[in-house]
Amino acid sequence: MNNKTFYITTPIYYPSGNPHLGHSYCTVATDAMARYKRLCGYDVMFLTGTDEHGQKIQTNAQKENLPPQEFVDKLVAEFRNLWSIMDISNDRYIRTTDESHKKSVQKIFQTLYDKGEIYKGIYEGWYCTPCESFFTETQLVDKKCPDCGREVQKAKEEAYFFKLSKYSNKLLNLYEENPEFLMPESRRNEMISFIKNGLSDLCVTRTSFDWGIKVPFDKNHVIYVWLDALTNYITALGYGSDNDEDFKKYWPADVHFVGKEIIRFHAIIWPAILMALELPLPKHIYGHGWLLFGDGTKMSKSKGNVVDPQTLCDRYGVDAVKYFLLREIPFGSDSIFTNEALINRINSDLANDLGNLVSRTTAMVEKYFNGVLPQEIQSESIDDELINMARSLRKNYEDSMESFKFSNALACVFKFISRSNKYIDETMPWALSKDEKNRSRLACVLYNLCESLRIVSILLTPFMPNTTPKIQEQLGITHEMSTWESANEWGVLPRGIKIKKGDVLFPRIDVDKEIAELNDIIK
Ligand code: ME8
Repeated sequence: MNNKTFYITTPIYYPSGNPHLGHSYCTVATDAMARYKRLCGYDVMFLTGTDEHGQKIQTNAQKENLPPQEFVDKLVAEFRNLWSIMDISNDRYIRTTDESHKKSVQKIFQTLYDKGEIYKGIYEGWYCTPCESFFTETQLVDKKCPDCGREVQKAKEEAYFFKLSKYSNKLLNLYEENPEFLMPESRRNEMISFIKNGLSDLCVTRTSFDWGIKVPFDKNHVIYVWLDALTNYITALGYGSDNDEDFKKYWPADVHFVGKEIIRFHAIIWPAILMALELPLPKHIYGHGWLLFGDGTKMSKSKGNVVDPQTLCDRYGVDAVKYFLLREIPFGSDSIFTNEALINRINSDLANDLGNLVSRTTAMVEKYFNGVLPQEIQSESIDDELINMARSLRKNYEDSMESFKFSNALACVFKFISRSNKYIDETMPWALSKDEKNRSRLACVLYNLCESLRIVSILLTPFMPNTTPKIQEQLGITHEMSTWESANEWGVLPRGIKIKKGDVLFPRIDVDKEIAELNDIIK
Protein backbone atom coordinates (compact mmCIF):
# COMPACT_ATOMS: atom_id res chain seq x y z
CA MET A 1 0.00 0.00 0.00
CA ASN A 2 1.16 3.50 -0.79
CA ASN A 3 1.29 5.50 2.42
CA LYS A 4 2.54 8.75 0.93
CA THR A 5 -0.75 10.59 0.50
CA PHE A 6 -1.47 14.07 -0.81
CA TYR A 7 -4.85 15.74 -0.50
CA ILE A 8 -5.47 18.91 -2.52
CA THR A 9 -8.65 20.90 -3.16
CA THR A 10 -10.04 23.78 -5.20
CA PRO A 11 -12.77 26.00 -3.80
CA ILE A 12 -16.21 24.63 -4.56
CA TYR A 13 -17.57 27.04 -7.13
CA TYR A 14 -21.01 28.66 -7.16
CA PRO A 15 -23.00 27.30 -10.09
CA SER A 16 -24.90 30.57 -10.39
CA GLY A 17 -23.68 31.05 -13.96
CA ASN A 18 -21.41 29.28 -16.43
CA PRO A 19 -17.84 28.51 -15.38
CA HIS A 20 -15.36 31.15 -16.55
CA LEU A 21 -11.63 31.51 -16.95
CA GLY A 22 -11.17 32.51 -13.29
CA HIS A 23 -12.58 29.15 -12.21
CA SER A 24 -10.39 27.40 -14.76
CA TYR A 25 -7.34 29.18 -13.40
CA CYS A 26 -7.53 27.70 -9.91
CA THR A 27 -8.62 24.30 -11.19
CA VAL A 28 -5.75 24.13 -13.68
CA ALA A 29 -3.23 25.00 -10.95
CA THR A 30 -4.68 22.34 -8.67
CA ASP A 31 -4.58 19.84 -11.50
CA ALA A 32 -0.90 20.56 -12.20
CA MET A 33 -0.05 20.12 -8.53
CA ALA A 34 -2.05 16.88 -8.29
CA ARG A 35 -0.38 15.47 -11.42
CA TYR A 36 3.04 16.49 -10.12
CA LYS A 37 2.48 14.67 -6.84
CA ARG A 38 1.23 11.57 -8.66
CA LEU A 39 4.36 11.70 -10.80
CA CYS A 40 6.41 11.79 -7.58
CA GLY A 41 4.64 8.63 -6.43
CA TYR A 42 2.03 9.98 -4.03
CA ASP A 43 -1.43 8.56 -3.57
CA VAL A 44 -3.29 11.74 -4.45
CA MET A 45 -6.82 12.83 -3.67
CA PHE A 46 -7.79 15.84 -5.80
CA LEU A 47 -11.18 17.26 -4.94
CA THR A 48 -13.24 19.89 -6.69
CA GLY A 49 -16.96 20.56 -6.77
CA THR A 50 -19.80 23.03 -6.53
CA ASP A 51 -21.34 25.10 -3.75
CA GLU A 52 -25.00 24.90 -4.62
CA HIS A 53 -27.06 26.44 -1.83
CA GLY A 54 -27.93 29.96 -0.79
CA GLN A 55 -29.95 33.01 -1.59
CA LYS A 56 -28.19 33.92 -4.80
CA ILE A 57 -28.69 30.51 -6.40
CA GLN A 58 -32.32 30.53 -5.32
CA THR A 59 -32.87 33.98 -6.83
CA ASN A 60 -31.13 33.07 -10.09
CA ALA A 61 -33.19 29.91 -10.35
CA GLN A 62 -36.38 31.92 -9.85
CA LYS A 63 -35.34 34.29 -12.62
CA GLU A 64 -35.18 31.31 -14.96
CA ASN A 65 -38.40 29.84 -13.60
CA LEU A 66 -36.64 26.69 -12.55
CA PRO A 67 -36.67 24.82 -9.27
CA PRO A 68 -33.24 25.44 -7.67
CA GLN A 69 -32.23 21.80 -7.97
CA GLU A 70 -32.90 21.76 -11.72
CA PHE A 71 -31.12 25.08 -12.09
CA VAL A 72 -27.98 23.83 -10.39
CA ASP A 73 -28.09 20.45 -12.15
CA LYS A 74 -27.94 22.26 -15.47
CA LEU A 75 -25.01 24.46 -14.48
CA VAL A 76 -23.12 21.72 -12.69
CA ALA A 77 -23.20 19.79 -15.98
CA GLU A 78 -21.45 22.82 -17.56
CA PHE A 79 -18.75 22.81 -14.90
CA ARG A 80 -18.15 19.08 -15.20
CA ASN A 81 -18.11 19.30 -18.97
CA LEU A 82 -15.49 22.04 -18.89
CA TRP A 83 -13.30 20.01 -16.54
CA SER A 84 -13.54 17.09 -18.88
CA ILE A 85 -12.63 19.26 -21.89
CA MET A 86 -9.72 20.71 -19.94
CA ASP A 87 -8.51 17.26 -18.97
CA ILE A 88 -8.76 17.93 -15.26
CA SER A 89 -7.76 14.88 -13.26
CA ASN A 90 -9.90 15.33 -10.16
CA ASP A 91 -10.45 12.13 -8.21
CA ARG A 92 -13.73 13.26 -6.75
CA TYR A 93 -16.41 15.88 -7.39
CA ILE A 94 -18.52 17.06 -4.49
CA ARG A 95 -21.85 18.80 -4.78
CA THR A 96 -23.25 20.36 -1.63
CA THR A 97 -26.64 19.02 -2.76
CA ASP A 98 -25.33 15.43 -2.46
CA GLU A 99 -27.38 13.55 0.12
CA SER A 100 -24.24 12.35 1.89
CA HIS A 101 -22.93 15.91 2.24
CA LYS A 102 -26.25 17.19 3.57
CA LYS A 103 -26.42 14.44 6.20
CA SER A 104 -22.84 15.01 7.33
CA VAL A 105 -23.35 18.78 7.60
CA GLN A 106 -26.39 18.22 9.79
CA LYS A 107 -24.36 15.90 11.95
CA ILE A 108 -21.56 18.45 12.22
CA PHE A 109 -24.08 21.16 13.15
CA GLN A 110 -25.57 18.92 15.82
CA THR A 111 -22.15 18.05 17.23
CA LEU A 112 -21.14 21.69 17.44
CA TYR A 113 -24.45 22.58 19.07
CA ASP A 114 -24.16 19.75 21.59
CA LYS A 115 -20.64 20.88 22.46
CA GLY A 116 -21.85 24.43 23.07
CA GLU A 117 -19.89 25.76 20.10
CA ILE A 118 -23.10 26.87 18.40
CA TYR A 119 -25.83 28.76 20.27
CA LYS A 120 -29.09 30.50 19.40
CA GLY A 121 -29.08 34.29 19.42
CA ILE A 122 -30.40 37.33 17.58
CA TYR A 123 -29.02 38.43 14.25
CA GLU A 124 -29.32 42.15 13.68
CA GLY A 125 -28.90 43.48 10.25
CA TRP A 126 -30.46 45.28 7.35
CA TYR A 127 -33.28 43.69 5.42
CA CYS A 128 -34.21 44.25 1.79
CA THR A 129 -37.84 43.25 1.43
CA PRO A 130 -37.98 42.77 -2.37
CA CYS A 131 -34.84 40.65 -2.27
CA GLU A 132 -35.84 38.96 0.99
CA SER A 133 -32.24 39.27 2.08
CA PHE A 134 -30.37 40.22 5.20
CA PHE A 135 -27.21 42.24 4.98
CA THR A 136 -24.70 43.40 7.52
CA GLU A 137 -23.86 47.10 7.74
CA THR A 138 -20.63 46.57 5.82
CA GLN A 139 -22.30 44.72 2.99
CA LEU A 140 -24.53 47.68 2.14
CA VAL A 141 -23.58 49.90 -0.77
CA ASP A 142 -24.28 53.59 -0.03
CA LYS A 143 -26.54 52.34 2.78
CA LYS A 144 -28.70 50.58 0.16
CA CYS A 145 -29.23 46.97 -0.87
CA PRO A 146 -26.07 45.72 -2.59
CA ASP A 147 -28.15 43.58 -4.97
CA CYS A 148 -30.97 45.86 -6.13
CA GLY A 149 -29.93 49.28 -4.81
CA ARG A 150 -33.22 49.88 -2.96
CA GLU A 151 -33.78 51.10 0.60
CA VAL A 152 -33.20 48.60 3.39
CA GLN A 153 -34.81 48.36 6.84
CA LYS A 154 -33.21 47.57 10.16
CA ALA A 155 -34.33 44.10 11.20
CA LYS A 156 -33.70 41.32 13.66
CA GLU A 157 -34.09 37.61 13.34
CA GLU A 158 -33.36 34.62 15.48
CA ALA A 159 -30.30 32.78 14.28
CA TYR A 160 -27.64 30.34 15.35
CA PHE A 161 -24.11 31.55 15.99
CA PHE A 162 -20.77 29.79 15.97
CA LYS A 163 -18.46 30.92 18.79
CA LEU A 164 -15.76 32.21 16.47
CA SER A 165 -14.61 34.94 18.85
CA LYS A 166 -13.23 32.49 21.35
CA TYR A 167 -10.69 31.22 18.79
CA SER A 168 -8.84 34.52 18.31
CA ASN A 169 -5.80 33.59 20.36
CA LYS A 170 -5.62 30.06 19.08
CA LEU A 171 -5.66 31.39 15.51
CA LEU A 172 -2.95 33.94 16.25
CA ASN A 173 -0.84 31.16 17.78
CA LEU A 174 -1.46 29.03 14.74
CA TYR A 175 -0.04 31.70 12.41
CA GLU A 176 2.90 32.26 14.70
CA GLU A 177 3.78 28.61 15.16
CA ASN A 178 3.14 27.61 11.55
CA PRO A 179 4.34 30.43 9.33
CA GLU A 180 3.61 28.24 6.32
CA PHE A 181 -0.03 27.63 7.20
CA LEU A 182 -1.11 30.61 5.18
CA MET A 183 0.68 31.19 1.87
CA PRO A 184 2.00 33.26 0.27
CA GLU A 185 3.48 34.91 3.32
CA SER A 186 2.18 38.34 2.32
CA ARG A 187 -1.39 37.27 3.15
CA ARG A 188 -0.59 36.55 6.78
CA ASN A 189 -0.34 40.06 8.16
CA GLU A 190 -3.70 40.95 6.74
CA MET A 191 -5.29 38.05 8.64
CA ILE A 192 -3.45 38.85 11.85
CA SER A 193 -4.66 42.43 11.88
CA PHE A 194 -8.18 41.30 11.01
CA ILE A 195 -8.19 39.04 14.06
CA LYS A 196 -6.58 41.67 16.29
CA ASN A 197 -9.38 44.07 15.37
CA GLY A 198 -11.71 41.64 17.13
CA LEU A 199 -13.61 38.64 15.85
CA SER A 200 -17.39 38.47 16.34
CA ASP A 201 -19.30 35.24 16.59
CA LEU A 202 -20.43 34.03 13.22
CA CYS A 203 -24.04 33.78 12.19
CA VAL A 204 -24.39 30.34 10.64
CA THR A 205 -28.11 30.10 9.84
CA ARG A 206 -30.80 32.08 8.04
CA THR A 207 -34.58 31.99 7.97
CA SER A 208 -35.00 34.40 5.07
CA PHE A 209 -34.55 31.76 2.34
CA ASP A 210 -34.94 28.02 2.30
CA TRP A 211 -32.60 26.72 -0.40
CA GLY A 212 -30.14 25.12 1.96
CA ILE A 213 -29.55 22.38 4.48
CA LYS A 214 -32.01 22.53 7.36
CA VAL A 215 -30.87 22.78 10.96
CA PRO A 216 -31.65 19.23 12.12
CA PHE A 217 -33.58 20.25 15.24
CA ASP A 218 -35.05 23.59 14.09
CA LYS A 219 -36.43 23.25 10.58
CA ASN A 220 -37.18 26.97 10.05
CA HIS A 221 -33.48 27.63 9.86
CA VAL A 222 -31.18 26.76 7.00
CA ILE A 223 -27.46 26.46 7.51
CA TYR A 224 -25.79 29.47 5.97
CA VAL A 225 -23.24 29.13 3.23
CA TRP A 226 -19.88 28.97 4.94
CA LEU A 227 -20.59 26.14 7.35
CA ASP A 228 -22.19 24.21 4.50
CA ALA A 229 -19.43 25.06 2.02
CA LEU A 230 -16.23 24.75 4.04
CA THR A 231 -17.14 21.39 5.46
CA ASN A 232 -17.14 19.94 1.92
CA TYR A 233 -13.43 19.32 2.35
CA ILE A 234 -14.13 16.68 4.99
CA THR A 235 -17.59 15.43 4.03
CA ALA A 236 -16.20 14.53 0.58
CA LEU A 237 -13.93 12.08 2.39
CA GLY A 238 -16.81 10.55 4.28
CA TYR A 239 -16.41 12.44 7.55
CA GLY A 240 -19.62 12.13 9.55
CA SER A 241 -20.81 9.14 7.48
CA ASP A 242 -20.68 5.37 8.00
CA ASN A 243 -17.64 5.08 5.78
CA ASP A 244 -14.86 7.42 6.80
CA GLU A 245 -11.93 5.35 5.49
CA ASP A 246 -10.90 8.12 3.08
CA PHE A 247 -11.12 10.70 5.81
CA LYS A 248 -8.74 8.64 7.92
CA LYS A 249 -6.46 8.15 4.97
CA TYR A 250 -6.28 11.66 3.49
CA TRP A 251 -7.14 14.17 6.21
CA PRO A 252 -5.61 16.63 7.03
CA ALA A 253 -5.47 18.24 3.59
CA ASP A 254 -2.03 19.09 2.33
CA VAL A 255 -3.26 22.26 0.73
CA HIS A 256 -6.45 24.15 -0.07
CA PHE A 257 -6.00 26.39 -3.11
CA VAL A 258 -8.37 29.37 -2.95
CA GLY A 259 -8.68 32.81 -4.51
CA LYS A 260 -7.45 35.66 -2.33
CA GLU A 261 -10.98 37.00 -1.73
CA ILE A 262 -11.95 33.91 0.26
CA ILE A 263 -8.76 33.51 2.26
CA ARG A 264 -10.41 34.98 5.30
CA PHE A 265 -13.00 32.22 5.39
CA HIS A 266 -10.35 29.56 4.92
CA ALA A 267 -7.74 31.00 7.26
CA ILE A 268 -10.05 32.03 10.09
CA ILE A 269 -13.46 30.35 10.01
CA TRP A 270 -12.31 26.98 8.69
CA PRO A 271 -9.54 26.34 11.22
CA ALA A 272 -11.87 27.54 14.00
CA ILE A 273 -14.55 25.04 12.93
CA LEU A 274 -11.95 22.28 12.82
CA MET A 275 -10.65 23.27 16.24
CA ALA A 276 -14.20 23.14 17.57
CA LEU A 277 -14.60 19.66 16.07
CA GLU A 278 -11.20 18.73 17.52
CA LEU A 279 -9.87 17.76 14.10
CA PRO A 280 -6.40 18.34 12.65
CA LEU A 281 -5.93 21.44 10.52
CA PRO A 282 -4.94 21.56 6.85
CA LYS A 283 -1.20 21.97 6.32
CA HIS A 284 -1.45 24.93 3.97
CA ILE A 285 -3.97 27.41 2.65
CA TYR A 286 -2.70 29.05 -0.52
CA GLY A 287 -4.42 32.29 -1.56
CA HIS A 288 -3.77 32.78 -5.27
CA GLY A 289 -4.14 36.05 -7.15
CA TRP A 290 -6.78 37.18 -9.61
CA LEU A 291 -6.98 37.21 -13.33
CA LEU A 292 -7.96 40.75 -14.15
CA PHE A 293 -9.75 41.56 -17.28
CA GLY A 294 -9.63 44.54 -19.61
CA ASP A 295 -10.58 47.36 -17.30
CA GLY A 296 -8.50 45.94 -14.45
CA THR A 297 -11.41 44.43 -12.53
CA LYS A 298 -11.68 40.87 -11.37
CA MET A 299 -13.30 38.64 -13.90
CA SER A 300 -16.57 37.35 -12.59
CA LYS A 301 -19.93 36.18 -13.74
CA SER A 302 -21.64 39.41 -12.79
CA LYS A 303 -19.35 41.65 -14.86
CA GLY A 304 -20.13 40.05 -18.19
CA ASN A 305 -16.57 40.47 -19.51
CA VAL A 306 -15.78 36.81 -19.58
CA VAL A 307 -13.36 35.06 -21.86
CA ASP A 308 -14.89 31.70 -22.46
CA PRO A 309 -12.35 28.99 -21.51
CA GLN A 310 -13.92 26.53 -23.91
CA THR A 311 -13.45 28.88 -26.86
CA LEU A 312 -9.82 29.40 -25.89
CA CYS A 313 -9.23 25.65 -25.61
CA ASP A 314 -10.91 25.06 -28.98
CA ARG A 315 -8.73 27.64 -30.68
CA TYR A 316 -5.34 26.97 -29.09
CA GLY A 317 -5.58 23.55 -27.48
CA VAL A 318 -6.01 22.75 -23.81
CA ASP A 319 -2.31 22.40 -23.05
CA ALA A 320 -1.46 25.83 -24.45
CA VAL A 321 -4.14 27.49 -22.33
CA LYS A 322 -3.03 25.62 -19.21
CA TYR A 323 0.59 26.45 -19.88
CA PHE A 324 -0.17 30.12 -20.34
CA LEU A 325 -2.20 30.42 -17.14
CA LEU A 326 0.53 28.90 -15.02
CA ARG A 327 3.57 30.38 -16.77
CA GLU A 328 2.43 33.96 -17.27
CA ILE A 329 1.00 34.67 -13.83
CA PRO A 330 3.01 34.09 -10.64
CA PHE A 331 0.53 32.07 -8.56
CA GLY A 332 0.21 34.53 -5.70
CA SER A 333 -0.12 37.65 -7.89
CA ASP A 334 -2.82 39.37 -9.88
CA SER A 335 -2.38 39.68 -13.60
CA ILE A 336 -4.28 41.25 -16.44
CA PHE A 337 -5.42 38.67 -18.95
CA THR A 338 -5.08 39.58 -22.60
CA ASN A 339 -5.47 37.44 -25.65
CA GLU A 340 -2.39 39.03 -27.07
CA ALA A 341 -0.22 37.88 -24.17
CA LEU A 342 -1.65 34.38 -24.56
CA ILE A 343 -0.85 34.26 -28.28
CA ASN A 344 2.63 35.68 -27.75
CA ARG A 345 3.42 33.03 -25.15
CA ILE A 346 2.19 30.28 -27.44
CA ASN A 347 4.33 31.60 -30.28
CA SER A 348 7.49 32.26 -28.33
CA ASP A 349 7.61 29.46 -25.77
CA LEU A 350 5.57 26.67 -27.28
CA ALA A 351 5.93 27.04 -31.05
CA ASN A 352 9.41 28.56 -31.14
CA ASP A 353 11.30 27.13 -28.20
CA LEU A 354 9.72 23.79 -27.34
CA GLY A 355 8.14 22.95 -30.69
CA ASN A 356 11.28 23.83 -32.62
CA LEU A 357 13.54 21.86 -30.34
CA VAL A 358 11.42 18.77 -30.88
CA SER A 359 11.07 19.18 -34.61
CA ARG A 360 14.70 20.13 -35.26
CA THR A 361 15.99 17.25 -33.16
CA THR A 362 13.75 14.57 -34.62
CA ALA A 363 14.18 15.90 -38.17
CA MET A 364 17.98 15.76 -37.86
CA VAL A 365 17.98 12.20 -36.52
CA GLU A 366 15.82 11.20 -39.46
CA LYS A 367 17.86 13.11 -41.98
CA TYR A 368 21.34 12.12 -40.84
CA PHE A 369 20.71 8.66 -39.42
CA ASN A 370 17.45 7.47 -40.96
CA GLY A 371 15.84 7.73 -37.54
CA VAL A 372 18.21 5.39 -35.68
CA LEU A 373 21.12 6.79 -33.68
CA PRO A 374 24.29 4.66 -33.87
CA GLN A 375 25.70 2.94 -30.76
CA GLU A 376 28.98 4.75 -30.89
CA ILE A 377 28.99 8.35 -29.71
CA GLN A 378 31.79 10.75 -29.04
CA SER A 379 31.47 13.40 -26.33
CA GLU A 380 33.27 16.71 -26.09
CA SER A 381 33.71 19.17 -23.26
CA ILE A 382 31.18 21.55 -24.78
CA ASP A 383 28.49 18.99 -23.81
CA ASP A 384 29.21 19.34 -20.12
CA GLU A 385 27.35 22.57 -19.57
CA LEU A 386 24.16 21.17 -21.08
CA ILE A 387 24.48 17.92 -19.16
CA ASN A 388 25.18 19.67 -15.87
CA MET A 389 22.19 21.90 -16.36
CA ALA A 390 20.05 18.83 -17.09
CA ARG A 391 21.31 17.15 -13.93
CA SER A 392 20.28 20.06 -11.71
CA LEU A 393 16.98 20.70 -13.47
CA ARG A 394 14.74 18.36 -11.50
CA LYS A 395 15.95 19.72 -8.19
CA ASN A 396 15.25 23.34 -9.18
CA TYR A 397 11.88 22.39 -10.59
CA GLU A 398 11.00 20.43 -7.46
CA ASP A 399 11.91 23.31 -5.13
CA SER A 400 9.55 25.58 -7.04
CA MET A 401 6.74 23.05 -7.21
CA GLU A 402 6.95 22.30 -3.50
CA SER A 403 6.33 25.97 -2.77
CA PHE A 404 3.57 26.23 -5.43
CA LYS A 405 5.67 28.49 -7.67
CA PHE A 406 4.39 27.07 -10.94
CA SER A 407 5.66 29.92 -13.03
CA ASN A 408 9.20 29.45 -11.67
CA ALA A 409 9.08 25.71 -12.23
CA LEU A 410 8.11 26.27 -15.86
CA ALA A 411 10.69 29.02 -16.25
CA CYS A 412 13.43 26.54 -15.19
CA VAL A 413 12.31 24.03 -17.78
CA PHE A 414 12.07 26.62 -20.54
CA LYS A 415 15.46 28.03 -19.68
CA PHE A 416 16.82 24.56 -20.24
CA ILE A 417 14.91 24.30 -23.53
CA SER A 418 16.53 27.55 -24.68
CA ARG A 419 19.91 26.21 -23.60
CA SER A 420 19.28 23.10 -25.68
CA ASN A 421 18.38 25.19 -28.72
CA LYS A 422 21.57 27.16 -28.19
CA TYR A 423 23.50 23.88 -28.02
CA ILE A 424 22.30 23.14 -31.55
CA ASP A 425 23.65 26.48 -32.72
CA GLU A 426 26.96 25.88 -30.92
CA THR A 427 27.53 22.33 -32.15
CA MET A 428 26.19 22.94 -35.69
CA PRO A 429 25.05 19.41 -36.57
CA TRP A 430 24.55 20.43 -40.21
CA ALA A 431 28.27 21.23 -40.43
CA LEU A 432 29.24 17.95 -38.71
CA SER A 433 27.09 16.04 -41.14
CA LYS A 434 29.27 17.12 -44.04
CA ASP A 435 32.12 14.82 -43.07
CA GLU A 436 31.72 11.08 -42.45
CA LYS A 437 34.50 11.11 -39.81
CA ASN A 438 32.33 13.29 -37.57
CA ARG A 439 29.61 10.66 -37.50
CA SER A 440 29.98 9.61 -33.86
CA ARG A 441 30.29 13.22 -32.79
CA LEU A 442 27.11 14.09 -34.65
CA ALA A 443 25.42 11.10 -33.03
CA CYS A 444 26.49 12.36 -29.61
CA VAL A 445 25.05 15.83 -30.20
CA LEU A 446 21.74 14.39 -31.30
CA TYR A 447 21.70 11.88 -28.46
CA ASN A 448 22.21 14.72 -25.98
CA LEU A 449 19.32 16.62 -27.51
CA CYS A 450 17.03 13.60 -27.33
CA GLU A 451 18.04 13.00 -23.74
CA SER A 452 17.38 16.66 -22.88
CA LEU A 453 13.94 16.36 -24.44
CA ARG A 454 13.27 13.21 -22.45
CA ILE A 455 13.85 15.08 -19.19
CA VAL A 456 11.83 18.07 -20.41
CA SER A 457 8.95 15.81 -21.38
CA ILE A 458 8.79 14.31 -17.88
CA LEU A 459 8.85 17.64 -16.09
CA LEU A 460 6.23 19.18 -18.37
CA THR A 461 3.79 16.30 -17.91
CA PRO A 462 1.94 17.82 -14.93
CA PHE A 463 1.29 20.95 -17.01
CA MET A 464 0.80 19.60 -20.52
CA PRO A 465 -0.42 16.04 -20.21
CA ASN A 466 -1.63 15.89 -23.82
CA THR A 467 1.57 17.14 -25.39
CA THR A 468 4.26 15.26 -23.52
CA PRO A 469 3.11 11.77 -24.64
CA LYS A 470 3.43 13.05 -28.23
CA ILE A 471 7.02 14.10 -27.60
CA GLN A 472 7.77 10.79 -25.89
CA GLU A 473 6.27 8.84 -28.75
CA GLN A 474 8.48 10.62 -31.29
CA LEU A 475 11.55 9.81 -29.20
CA GLY A 476 10.57 6.21 -28.49
CA ILE A 477 10.46 6.86 -24.75
CA THR A 478 8.83 4.07 -22.76
CA HIS A 479 7.20 4.27 -19.35
CA GLU A 480 10.40 3.22 -17.55
CA MET A 481 12.32 6.03 -19.25
CA SER A 482 9.82 8.67 -18.16
CA THR A 483 9.61 8.14 -14.42
CA TRP A 484 10.19 10.87 -11.86
CA GLU A 485 13.42 9.14 -10.76
CA SER A 486 14.71 9.04 -14.31
CA ALA A 487 14.22 12.82 -14.66
CA ASN A 488 17.22 13.11 -12.37
CA GLU A 489 19.47 10.89 -14.43
CA TRP A 490 21.44 11.43 -17.60
CA GLY A 491 21.91 8.72 -20.20
CA VAL A 492 18.66 6.84 -19.70
CA LEU A 493 17.72 6.60 -23.38
CA PRO A 494 19.37 3.50 -24.79
CA ARG A 495 21.87 3.97 -27.61
CA GLY A 496 20.44 2.99 -30.93
CA ILE A 497 16.99 4.40 -30.18
CA LYS A 498 14.58 4.86 -33.04
CA ILE A 499 13.20 8.35 -33.57
CA LYS A 500 10.16 9.24 -35.61
CA LYS A 501 9.33 12.82 -36.44
CA GLY A 502 5.70 13.70 -35.71
CA ASP A 503 3.27 16.51 -36.48
CA VAL A 504 4.00 20.08 -35.45
CA LEU A 505 3.11 20.36 -31.75
CA PHE A 506 2.15 24.03 -31.64
CA PRO A 507 1.54 25.84 -34.93
CA ARG A 508 2.55 29.48 -34.95
CA ILE A 509 -0.35 31.91 -34.73
CA ASP A 510 -0.58 35.08 -36.79
CA VAL A 511 -1.17 37.60 -33.99
CA ASP A 512 -2.92 40.34 -35.97
CA LYS A 513 -5.21 37.98 -37.82
CA GLU A 514 -6.08 36.12 -34.65
CA ILE A 515 -6.82 39.27 -32.65
CA ALA A 516 -9.09 40.48 -35.44
CA GLU A 517 -10.99 37.18 -35.40
CA LEU A 518 -11.29 37.29 -31.61
CA ASN A 519 -12.65 40.80 -31.76
CA ASP A 520 -15.33 39.54 -34.11
CA ILE A 521 -16.29 36.83 -31.63
CA ILE A 522 -16.53 39.28 -28.73
CA LYS A 523 -18.82 41.66 -30.64
O1 ME8 B 1 -16.34 31.87 -3.69
N1 ME8 B 1 -9.21 35.14 -11.10
O2 ME8 B 1 -17.26 30.47 -5.29
P1 ME8 B 1 -16.96 31.26 -6.65
C1 ME8 B 1 -8.72 34.07 -10.46
N2 ME8 B 1 -18.43 29.05 -3.42
N3 ME8 B 1 -9.51 33.17 -9.82
C2 ME8 B 1 -10.82 33.36 -9.85
C3 ME8 B 1 -11.40 34.46 -10.52
C4 ME8 B 1 -10.52 35.37 -11.17
N4 ME8 B 1 -10.96 36.42 -11.83
N5 ME8 B 1 -12.73 34.37 -10.38
C5 ME8 B 1 -12.98 33.25 -9.66
C6 ME8 B 1 -16.97 30.88 -4.01
N6 ME8 B 1 -11.83 32.62 -9.35
C7 ME8 B 1 -17.41 29.91 -2.93
C8 ME8 B 1 -16.22 29.13 -2.43
S1 ME8 B 1 -15.07 27.26 -0.94
C9 ME8 B 1 -15.45 26.36 0.44
C10 ME8 B 1 -16.49 28.17 -1.33
C11 ME8 B 1 -11.66 31.37 -8.59
O3 ME8 B 1 -17.74 30.57 -7.72
C12 ME8 B 1 -10.89 31.61 -7.31
O4 ME8 B 1 -10.26 30.41 -6.94
O5 ME8 B 1 -17.16 32.71 -6.47
C13 ME8 B 1 -11.99 31.98 -6.35
O6 ME8 B 1 -11.64 31.81 -4.99
C14 ME8 B 1 -13.08 31.01 -6.76
O7 ME8 B 1 -12.95 30.93 -8.19
C15 ME8 B 1 -14.43 31.57 -6.34
O8 ME8 B 1 -15.44 30.92 -6.96
